[in-house]
Amino acid sequence: MFALENWYVAARTEEIDSQPLGRKLLNRDVVLFRSENGELHALGAMCAHRGADLSKGQVIGKSIQCPWHGWQYDGTGRCDAIPSIGKCGKIPNGARVPSYPVHESQGYVYIWMQPDTSPTWRPPEHDFFEARYHVKTPVRFQRGSFINTVEAASDDSHVYLTHAKTIGVGAPSALAPVVDVMTTDDGRAVEGKMIWPAERKRRFTGFNAWYQRHLLGLGEDSNTHDRTYRMELSGLVIHTYRKADGNEFIVYAATTPADETTNWFFTGTIDTNPNRSLIGNFLYWLNRDRAAKVFDEDEEMIASTLTHDLPGGHPRPISVNADSMGLAFRRMYGKQVEAEGGTPAWPVAAG
Ligand code: FES
Ligand SMILES: [Fe+2]
Repeated sequence: MFALENWYVAARTEEIDSQPLGRKLLNRDVVLFRSENGELHALGAMCAHRGADLSKGQVIGKSIQCPWHGWQYDGTGRCDAIPSIGKCGKIPNGARVPSYPVHESQGYVYIWMQPDTSPTWRPPEHDFFEARYHVKTPVRFQRGSFINTVEAASDDSHVYLTHAKTIGVGAPSALAPVVDVMTTDDGRAVEGKMIWPAERKRRFTGFNAWYQRHLLGLGEDSNTHDRTYRMELSGLVIHTYRKADGNEFIVYAATTPADETTNWFFTGTIDTNPNRSLIGNFLYWLNRDRAAKVFDEDEEMIASTLTHDLPGGHPRPISVNADSMGLAFRRMYGKQVEAEGGTPAWPVAAG
């Protein structure tokens, strides 16, 4: 069961232009569109008449028109025109579709999955989203449960094995502990960090040092670099690596469930150094296929877990320190589900 009174990333700003965008989100078929004055709306995509898919229709003025018999719905989900009844005919009561609150900010479109309500809070803004060096990877649709996908995005203990062929090469088998795991005051994010003892940090030399410095802007191997984690209720996971020059290298991933076994996955990397070198940009461009490969490796693992098709995932998960961020997210997300009167689908600990 998912938390509905919650913001999720629905799309990137540039995905919604004059054409409506159809997207399955948390088991609902949703259509996102901009009315002709540019206002953004999200409606349930199933037409109230005979169920055609509104995302296959077109925007007319402030409304979206169903492709089948032309019924039109405004941003509130109310049907405001039915061609077949003529000018004097009455639009039937109940001719409406759900309307989901949306919030557009910093290049992302967020959706509140409880329709026809008014959210009391907004997704937090982050300065780093405005950084000049921001590489967004293509939006992915991938297999895996929501919880496994979010947890994998926060977890470093799988990197040396799952990603042995890409980023995990030579990673240490024992990780520094995850410490200071805390829920933020508003209860909508958990934060933690991984601090490496100086003697276990691995500084690259020669070509590797040059490559890492220009690729990530880091002076040492990213696998043994100190980092902070932040996981938001929305499914957004942020890793921050502070660099010697005071700037930050950031990797983020937002997971939004399409249904119980598939997700939308929005990811990017950011360097807050506004003067990032040209050669660094070029190396990153050369490297972009490797990023896609890393996500393929994760997806292959997550989608092949034996719990993949179980609605509640693993019935008796057992955790160690390296899982603390994931566990903290489970608790936070589970609390929200309970606050809505539901039962969390994913157990926190072995029962
Ligand atoms: S199904 Fe949409 S107008 Fe008929
Ligand atoms: Fe991974």
